[in-house]
Amino acid sequence: MASPNVSEHLQTLRQEIEAHDYRYYVLAQPTISDAEYDQLMEELRALEAQHPDLITPSSPTQKPGGHFETTFTPVQHRVPMLSLANAFDRDGLLAWETRNAKLVDHTVQEYAVEPKIDGLAVSLVYEAGRLIRAATRGDGLTGEEVTLNIKTIPDIPHNLRAAEDVEVRGEVYMSLADFEALNERRADQGESLFANPRNAAAGSLRQQDPRVTRQRPLRFWAYAALGLPGVQSHQEGLRQLRELGLPVWEDCRVVGNLAEVWDYCVEYEQRRPNLPFEIDGVVVKVNDISTQVELGNVGREPRWAIAFKYPPTQATTLLEGITLSVGRT
Ligand code: IVH
Repeated sequence: MASPNVSEHLQTLRQEIEAHDYRYYVLAQPTISDAEYDQLMEELRALEAQHPDLITPSSPTQKPGGHFETTFTPVQHRVPMLSLANAFDRDGLLAWETRNAKLVDHTVQEYAVEPKIDGLAVSLVYEAGRLIRAATRGDGLTGEEVTLNIKTIPDIPHNLRAAEDVEVRGEVYMSLADFEALNERRADQGESLFANPRNAAAGSLRQQDPRVTRQRPLRFWAYAALGLPGVQSHQEGLRQLRELGLPVWEDCRVVGNLAEVWDYCVEYEQRRPNLPFEIDGVVVKVNDISTQVELGNVGREPRWAIAFKYPPTQATTLLEGITLSVGRT
């Protein structure tokens, strides 16, 4: 059995090496020479050779062909990442409320409403305030690890303002202005164009090389916190996330009834053309966490939340040319 000192030393070494990998490969700003780096790796290898029982698959010595992951490792989500049922009109929202009222023996007092940002969902796991793992949603149960790519997004803190253990969920997106500029640049360089900001965001995040992701203007909004102690409402969770340093849309509102939910949906439909990012609806959540728990889920969807979806905006297709060919007939 190795002494706790050896385990601690191994952990420190591995973290140190990972930090240098990040600075070298992602930021392209190494702070030590190659020789010093090799020395650290040698020290780690020697220590692991003495204590083979302490070798972990994620140790820098175990990663093939380089010092950071180049393929996406599957990650099992601790809590499934659910999807949302949809409502397309006021009656759909009313039917949702009526169904829920039959399941809890009190009326829902408050709803939290927020834009449904059109990007891709990710999970960020912080331990003692440090971002240790980021993953895409995948099929909701298993996602892909994209930690290094996520770390290139300036909106996402690597360290929280307090040493909390928390899983943050939110949307990685590209602003409309950034999306258009990116496509213009790609057109100039003869590269294929992204169909919309969501595809651009997804394509940019799922890059094998984090240096490519770093060149793409990705942004992030947080919309859920899991595991923060003493949080009794969705709104309180968002407030704490803001305090911890995460970006949360400033106008997530709590309202007292469905009529006010509807007002928010109408307001955002009007604001939609002027927002700096694409939204495809409004997400309505029961604000009180104990009522959320009471309502629970059906299959992969929570009963306590619903997406009010706007009709799709008209897409414009640029017809780049027509090739005529004359056949025998
Ligand atoms: S909450 C259980 N809030 O919509 C609740 N989702 O169809 C799970 N989305 O996969 C999500 N903005 O990618 C929530 N303010 C928001 C959202 C939001 C966008 C996306 C998210 C999710 C999908 C659900």
